[in-house]
Amino acid sequence: MANFLIEGENRIGGELPIHGAKNAALPILAAALLTRRSVLHNCPDLSDVRAAAHILEHLGCTVEREGDTVIVESDDGVYCDIPDGLMREMRSSVVFLGAILTRCGRARVSFPGGCELGPRPIDIHLASLERMGVNIKEDHGDLDCTIDGKMVGTELNLPFPSVGATENILLAAVLAEGTTVIHNAAREPEIQDLAGFLTAIGAKIHLKNDGTIVVEGVETLLPEVEYRVIPDRIATATYLCAAAATGGELLVTKTEPEYLAAVLPMFEEMGCQVKTGPDLIYLKGPRRLRPVRMVRTMPYPGFPTDAQAPFMALSTLAQGTSVFVENIFESRYKHAAELMRMGARIKVEGRVAVVEGVPALHSAQVRCTDLRGGAALCIAALAAAGVSRVSDIAHIERGYERLEEHLSSLGAKITRE
Ligand code: EPU
Repeated sequence: MANFLIEGENRIGGELPIHGAKNAALPILAAALLTRRSVLHNCPDLSDVRAAAHILEHLGCTVEREGDTVIVESDDGVYCDIPDGLMREMRSSVVFLGAILTRCGRARVSFPGGCELGPRPIDIHLASLERMGVNIKEDHGDLDCTIDGKMVGTELNLPFPSVGATENILLAAVLAEGTTVIHNAAREPEIQDLAGFLTAIGAKIHLKNDGTIVVEGVETLLPEVEYRVIPDRIATATYLCAAAATGGELLVTKTEPEYLAAVLPMFEEMGCQVKTGPDLIYLKGPRRLRPVRMVRTMPYPGFPTDAQAPFMALSTLAQGTSVFVENIFESRYKHAAELMRMGARIKVEGRVAVVEGVPALHSAQVRCTDLRGGAALCIAALAAAGVSRVSDIAHIERGYERLEEHLSSLGAKITRE
């Protein structure tokens, strides 16, 4: 696996346009199965997106990329299975389940299993699909899903506003018979984007402010669509963290400040200057960061779990103590031990992490444990004295397009080994 060599103590500053959102592009690529031709603009070039393209190709689609536009052609003869190897390439491949069921009336996929963030059950996905008339049999680690006739709309109360389950239900409900009502649905911008894509191909979806989604099943969907994926809010937050950690001054463009309404005040609390425009965010880091009293990760519109690790990297350099409470995933502090190799002082106890800021970090050899944890290590290395080696960067490439190129253009000294 490749590594990054990062020479720290260089300010991150300048201007950077943000790429499209990974977590919006992935379900939208699955939704491309429901129409014949999808032209998707602002589709980021990431290994997870390539994994989704491999799945589509396996299912019988053609996928072509021209710059940031991906064109998916999904003619007749679509297959309904995803082999284990492709499922394992990307955990979120489970979102293909709802789309394949709608397209083919049956689906066979392997059980996604756990991942680096701890156990990742899909009980909410499966219970909801069963309520919609899907028969699900577990067979040697595979899920064999069949439907007698058509899926049927129903009223669903999600025990937790799961992003993936909400996406699978939407993909199953658009052509189901009757109306599906999802109470306690996820409200992330990426859900709104998937609903936007489905609406563009003729689905009838009503997103209510209280987290209820109403989907009226339609008979058919339109054959063609051209759609633009929303900007990546987590990539935006990550680059802002890099600027804040190095006392830099950064203007992030082609982004959406509204998606970061719970995050931007945290930068201000830490002493950064933040200004926003319609599709841009300006941030100037202070000489020394202040701690952030409490970061509690929550479903949207709360503080995103995906920004927890980058913020923890930032808080290691603050003058005082910061507290983190991770409420979404069971095991999302693996980066803490790696940050400690660079001189950070962090205590983790279950879902709580207490970070006592230090005046400076030093370089070290550190290993990415997951996508956002990997981004956090890069942020710490950019601020640390000396040259750090960040290994296993394949994790980072799942979610950040050409990270080293972008950071270099902003003044970082970073090379790939
Ligand atoms: N959960 C269940 N049962 C289910 C589904 C979820 O117990 O059936 C639990 C999960 O184990 C987890 C929590 O609910 O503890 C949240 O899971 P959710 O389903 O909301 O997340 P996801 O769909 O698996 C997406 C993003 C994640 C992001 C989370 C939370 C994609 C492709 N992934 O995952 O993104 O952290 O929502 O916002 O959209 C990342 O980009 O680094 C990443 C991990």
